[in-house]
Amino acid sequence: MKFYITTPIYYVNARPHIGHTYTSVAADVLARFYRMLDYDVFFLTGTDEHGQKIATAAEERNISPQSLVDEMSEVYKKLWEKLEITYDRFIRTTEPKHVEVVRKIFLKLLESGNLYKGEYSGYYCIHCESYVIPENETIPLCPDCKRPVKKFTEPTYFFKLSNYKEKLEKYYSENPDFIKPDFRKNEILNFVKKGLIDLSVTRKNVKWGIESPTPEKYSIYVWVDALLNYLSGVGYLYEPETFEKYWPPDVQLIGKDIMRFHHIIWPAILMALNLPLPKTIFAHGWWNINREKISKSKGNIVSPEDIIEDYGVEPLRFFLMREVPFGLDGEYTEEAFKKRYNSDLVNDLGNLVNRTLNLVEKRFNSEIPYGSPDEKLMDMLKAAFENYKEKMSKIAFSEAIEEIWNVLGYLNKFLDEKAPWSIEDDKEAGRVLYNVLEGIRVIALLLSPFIPTTAKRIWDMLGIGKDPYIEKFSAIEKRLVPGNKIGERVILFKRRK
Ligand code: MSP
Repeated sequence: MKFYITTPIYYVNARPHIGHTYTSVAADVLARFYRMLDYDVFFLTGTDEHGQKIATAAEERNISPQSLVDEMSEVYKKLWEKLEITYDRFIRTTEPKHVEVVRKIFLKLLESGNLYKGEYSGYYCIHCESYVIPENETIPLCPDCKRPVKKFTEPTYFFKLSNYKEKLEKYYSENPDFIKPDFRKNEILNFVKKGLIDLSVTRKNVKWGIESPTPEKYSIYVWVDALLNYLSGVGYLYEPETFEKYWPPDVQLIGKDIMRFHHIIWPAILMALNLPLPKTIFAHGWWNINREKISKSKGNIVSPEDIIEDYGVEPLRFFLMREVPFGLDGEYTEEAFKKRYNSDLVNDLGNLVNRTLNLVEKRFNSEIPYGSPDEKLMDMLKAAFENYKEKMSKIAFSEAIEEIWNVLGYLNKFLDEKAPWSIEDDKEAGRVLYNVLEGIRVIALLLSPFIPTTAKRIWDMLGIGKDPYIEKFSAIEKRLVPGNKIGERVILFKRRK
């Protein structure tokens, strides 16, 4: 079984903030989850490097667009490395391979009669890189980002988007998983119902872009260039084996601000190319501060690097996935972060591991004690695993984590109630600890897609870190072997004042 997952490609006009981090961490969690289920995963991410927005950012810094995109794509790569993002391919839209594929696709669309020459007259928002219709013509503002927009008239090539209205409507109704989450469907359906207008896919005066394969030498509209990364990134038109193996995408993650591009324009282009459509395009919400979207222009940036420096990588991954149901907006506050950190990671998880292993060290000479599985606990672990899998396949990260915390709660209570430290009989005390250790082992498995290094540290402490199969969910069936030595005990998370 294969699993092809993508993130949007990020604009390189500025440094990444936690909004960008969010989509990538989420995609990484899913990629890791499916790998653990033994799927053949292809995880694509990258950077969106053309267009006016990038050219302007370079101008402002007095450097060439090429140096800006070279520098910033490295910043993204470094951050993803730090954040343990296990992508299989990082695509840059300035790469020759991508450029070639985009030009070939443009020709295909031209030859199949999907493009025609015309004239665009209207407004454009550079920030959104989007043709827009402002609500008020006297003070024309972008209806999405509310920034001032400019009008222009220029010759262009249009994509016959209007031709795809009925086809898209039919596709949406026959494929209920295509637009996710469900509560966002109406927005798209209503938009399409009003009728689609053809899309200008070239820009006459934008120099920083892929040159159109036409006599006029325009540049290709940056959103078309960008969307096609999902094809070029997986080998379309140059690496047929890879492409055939992985196409179509199983899950494409995006933020809610770029739904129309992904749920309308993107599938229409694929229909025009006669290619199968992605199974699910899931739009997540925004991270806000005081109800305002975190963004460079608002100046309310929360830097992932700062949080990492302060708390570490895994607490950040955990917080992003745990705090807000995926799909909804969330408020970022440092207090909420610290609270999650101290209560979930330090108390519930870290303390359980620490006190259990401490008892094993002291009383059982650092050996896994003999014990038979407690039926109730084993049933609970099994049920939690099933529920967890279901939540993960529905892309409900916070709910999947809640399943893990139910087990943690049970284990903490089990340990408190059985109180092995006050049981005199070694066998009896050993049996309790054996079961808690088993619970911890399984919890580390379920946590692994979210906080992989922590999971490894737990397995090392349990003495099973070297098992080559430890990172697959099939390892759930295994059992800790009594008599085996546990590893060195380390503190997973230090309490924060
Ligand atoms: N380059 C386009 C995407 C092209 S994909 C073919 C783009 N880039 S972006 O850098 O502006 O945004 C990338 C992703 O980050 C989007 O999914 C966007 O929703 C997400 N986020 C940016 N700010 C965000 C928050 N404050 N909160 C959550 N995610 C947000 O759009």
